[in-house]
Amino acid sequence: MKIRSSDADKKTTHPLRSGRRPAVARSGPETAPRQVADWIRIVARQLTDADLCFASGMQEPYPEAEYLVLHAFSIPPETPPGRRPPPPPDAAERVRALLEARIGQRKPAAYVTGEAFFAGHRFVVDERVLIPRSRIENMLDDPRGFTPWLATGRVRRILDLGTGSGCLAIALALAFPRAQVDAVDLSPGALEVARLNRERFGLEQRLRLIRSDLFSALAGERYDLIVSNPPYVPKADFERLPAEYHREPAMALVAGEDGLDLLGPILRQAPDHLTPGGLLVCETGDDVEEILMARWPELPVEWLMFHFGASGVFAVLRESLESWREDFP
Ligand SMILES: C[S@@+](CC[C@H](N)C(=O)[O-])C[C@H]1O[C@@H](n2cnc3c(N)ncnc32)[C@H](O)[C@@H]1O
Repeated sequence: MKIRSSDADKKTTHPLRSGRRPAVARSGPETAPRQVADWIRIVARQLTDADLCFASGMQEPYPEAEYLVLHAFSIPPETPPGRRPPPPPDAAERVRALLEARIGQRKPAAYVTGEAFFAGHRFVVDERVLIPRSRIENMLDDPRGFTPWLATGRVRRILDLGTGSGCLAIALALAFPRAQVDAVDLSPGALEVARLNRERFGLEQRLRLIRSDLFSALAGERYDLIVSNPPYVPKADFERLPAEYHREPAMALVAGEDGLDLLGPILRQAPDHLTPGGLLVCETGDDVEEILMARWPELPVEWLMFHFGASGVFAVLRESLESWREDFP
């Protein structure tokens, strides 16, 4: 899960605990702004003044304000500005409620609206799941993103380890229409959200949701492609993150003192669940990439470069991982 390094030191005081409350327009219908655009400007100003963290959704106050106001007014987000209807009669109430959630409770925008966009698709989300933002998304625009290692035509079985909302599993199922996908998570709440998304995309026949502690419920199962965005934030880093990250499930983010609590077992166990020539693609984030390579310098993984540079995502073939495991038991 992408965490901006600048966020690690930007922990803000929870405004409710500090007694600070969002100042919401108290105008009645006669004085309320008449245009949606005016409401967007008012909300953008409030978001800016509140010194929020925008990392897990829109990256700036204005687009986030636009997204939240359109949602609050039940206007489809794709409606062009010139075609938007006038604000509803209870606009001030609706805006007050959204500001209370976003500023008062520091809920990320995706939890306010109950939806998130990932790999070009819209997913249901709530506080039981991480807000989708895995960098593995950059490989999913086109299944050829995997071709340096895999003949994509031969991919029949895929595993998403730690599926959360199911966003990666579903995007993979759509990118590989002939594949069967298994998606596992330890959290029953996350699996319920993933179930809602599976239904939304009509993937009941091709996507299996399984409660499992990593590979524990997958004895004997083998996959051509295993993808994982596991928890990898070191505990001390998590403590320093802004309030918005603390609205997400801690078990989706934190992985022990050094961030390797899950990555270690994944690397050791993955060869037992990959077919010959099978591929593991896994996200670690930039900081944990360094920790991982310091811990196991001989790890034969390939760090991917996306359009924005280094990725904190690696790929490794089963055979390389198996040799490493034998050489460094
Ligand atoms: C970083 S989130 C990733 C969610 C989703 N794949 C995404 O990219 O948005 C990690 C997920 O791993 C799950 N998880 C944590 N520990 C686990 C374990 N031991 N076994 C399986 N899943 C686990 C969490 O519940 C969470 O949903």
